[in-house]
Amino acid sequence: MKRQFLPILLAAFLAASGVQAQPSAKGPEWLSRAIFYQIYPSSFQDSDGNGIGDLPGIISRLDYIQSLGVNALWLNPVYESGWFDGGYDIIDFYRIDPRFGTNSDMVRLIDEAHKRGLRVCLDLVAGHTSDRCRWFVESATADPNSRYSDYYIWPDSISADEREQIRLRHASAHPASDTRGHYVESPYPRARYYMKNYFECQPALNYGYAHPDPSRPWEQAVTAPGPQAVRRELRNIMAFWFDKGIDGFRVDMASSLVKNDPDRSAIRQLWQEMRQWRDSHYPHCALIAEWANPAMSIPAGFDVDFFMHFNRPGYPSLFFDRDTPAGSRSPFEYSYFNRNGRGRIDQFIDNFSECYRLTRDRGYIGLPTANHDFQRLRAGSRNTPDQLRVAMTFLLTMPGIPFVYYGDEIGMRYQLDAPDVEGATDRAGSRTPMQWEPGPTAGFSTCAVDSLYLPVSTDGGLLTVRAQEADPRSLLYYVRHLLRLRRDVPALGNDAGWTLLSDKMRPYPMVYRRSTADDVCIVAVNPSAASVSASIPTLSAPVEAIAQSGKVKYKRGATTDRIVMGPVSAVVYRLSRP
Ligand code: NOJ
Repeated sequence: MKRQFLPILLAAFLAASGVQAQPSAKGPEWLSRAIFYQIYPSSFQDSDGNGIGDLPGIISRLDYIQSLGVNALWLNPVYESGWFDGGYDIIDFYRIDPRFGTNSDMVRLIDEAHKRGLRVCLDLVAGHTSDRCRWFVESATADPNSRYSDYYIWPDSISADEREQIRLRHASAHPASDTRGHYVESPYPRARYYMKNYFECQPALNYGYAHPDPSRPWEQAVTAPGPQAVRRELRNIMAFWFDKGIDGFRVDMASSLVKNDPDRSAIRQLWQEMRQWRDSHYPHCALIAEWANPAMSIPAGFDVDFFMHFNRPGYPSLFFDRDTPAGSRSPFEYSYFNRNGRGRIDQFIDNFSECYRLTRDRGYIGLPTANHDFQRLRAGSRNTPDQLRVAMTFLLTMPGIPFVYYGDEIGMRYQLDAPDVEGATDRAGSRTPMQWEPGPTAGFSTCAVDSLYLPVSTDGGLLTVRAQEADPRSLLYYVRHLLRLRRDVPALGNDAGWTLLSDKMRPYPMVYRRSTADDVCIVAVNPSAASVSASIPTLSAPVEAIAQSGKVKYKRGATTDRIVMGPVSAVVYRLSRP
C-alpha cells in the first residue's frame, strides 16, 4: 500500500512546489529512437470503397507499417476541411473530416498504433483556416461582440504592389490555386481585404505584428487581445488531441505566424512560450516544425525540423535535377544523387554541418525521403532500384530523424502527369494511392478505377508491396534491413555522432563515420555510374559490411584504408568490436 502511494505523494509534492517533470533538453525521450512514416491519408488505404483513403483503412495497414521497422507516424491533416488544399484549409480543427471517419476512429487508430509501438503525430495547421471555418465567417460579419472578431487580419487598404498581385492572380488560369500576393478582396462587410497565407481560401490567423504600424489599425501587437486569443485557441487544439492520446504535431508553416517579423524574434518567442507550455503539460509529446531552418527553429523550442525543398539549398542539391518539377527552380543543374556524377555535396555538407553543430544537443534534423509537397525520390533520371538503394542508404544512416514518405519504401514513382486534385498542382504526382498489390486499383480501394483519388500505375504489378515482399532483392527488403540496422546498431542511431571523412569538393564517393563511445560505422555512397574510391585514416579493427548495394571493396593500408566502389553502390561497414 505504502509503496503505491509514494509516487503519488511525490508528484503532489512536486506539483505543489511548482517543480514540473523535467523533459530532457532534447524533448521527449522517444525521439532518440524515432523513425517516422508519413501518410497522406487520402491516398493510403480506402476501407469503404469510395476511392479515398480513411482512418479505418490506415488501421488495417498498421501491421505492415510496423513490419517496416518505423515507430512513429505523421498524418497530413485529417480534420474537417474544404479540400481546396489537400486538407490544409480547415473548417473544424476539433473534428475528423467525415471522409476519413470520426473522432472515435482516430482514438481507435491511436490505441491500435500504440499497441504496435507506433507513436502518432498529427498536422497542426497553425497559420490559417478555411474561409468556410466558423471563426472566419463570424469574424467577417463585423460583429464586434463575436468571440472571433479579431481572429483574422482585415486591412482597409493595401499597397499598389499588393493590388497588382491580386490582379495577376485573377488573370491567371487557376486563380483559386495561385499563391501570389498576401491579400484577398473581401466580399464581406468587415473590411475591403483580408490577409491570406497561401491560397485565397486560406485566411491567415491573427497572431499579430512584430512591428505594428499605428496608422494601420488592423496591424495588432502580438500582445493584443485578438492575437492572444488565437494563441490560446492553438493551445486548446493541441491539448484536445494530446488528451486523446496523440504523441505530437508537425506544425505547418511554423515560421510565418507573426507578421512583419523580419528577424523572426517574435515568432521565436511564440514558440518558446509554446515549448514551455508543452514541457509543463505534455512533456512526452513532440513538436516538429515545417520551418526548414533547424538552426533557428530548434533553439526556438521545436524538437525536430526538416531539411527539405525550401529555405536552405542543401537538400535540393542532393535530389532535385533541373529537368524535374522541384528542380526547375533549383540553382543546380544536376543533383548529387544523379548517376551522371555531375552533382555536388558541398552545399549540403555546409548547411548540414552548421545546423548539426548548432542543434545536436537540443533537437533533431529530420531527413525526409520526400513529402506531399515535393517529388518522390523516384523522379526524372533516378528511376532504377539500385539508384534508390544508394539514396536510401544515405537517408537512413544519417544522424537525426528519418521520415519515410509512404510508398518510397517500394520506390513508387513521382507521377509526372497526375491530374491536379484538391489544390495539389504538381504535388499530385507525390500523392497517388499506395500500391499494395497488382490490379487496377493496386489494392488501395474496391472502387471503380475512375473513382480513385488519383490514378495508380504499378509497372505491371512490380511496384507493389505484394511483389516486393516476395523478392529478397527488392527495395522493400533493403529498406527494412536498413531500418533494422538503425534500430539495432548504436552507431547508426539518431543521436550517434557524425563526421564527414571524404573531401566535400570531391563528392563521389561521400564517406562518413557514425559513432558512439563503443561502436563505429563507416558509410560510403557512390550514386554515380563511374567506379570511384576514397581514402580514409586506417581503422583500428577489421570491418564487416552490414549493408551493401552494388560492388564495394575495403582495402586496408598502413596509414590509410581505401574504399573502392563500383558504379551506383553503397555500403555500411561496422568495426568489429573486441
Ligand atoms: C505547407 C503544407 O505542407 C502544404 O501542403 C500546404 O499547401 C501549405 N503549407 C499551406 O498550408
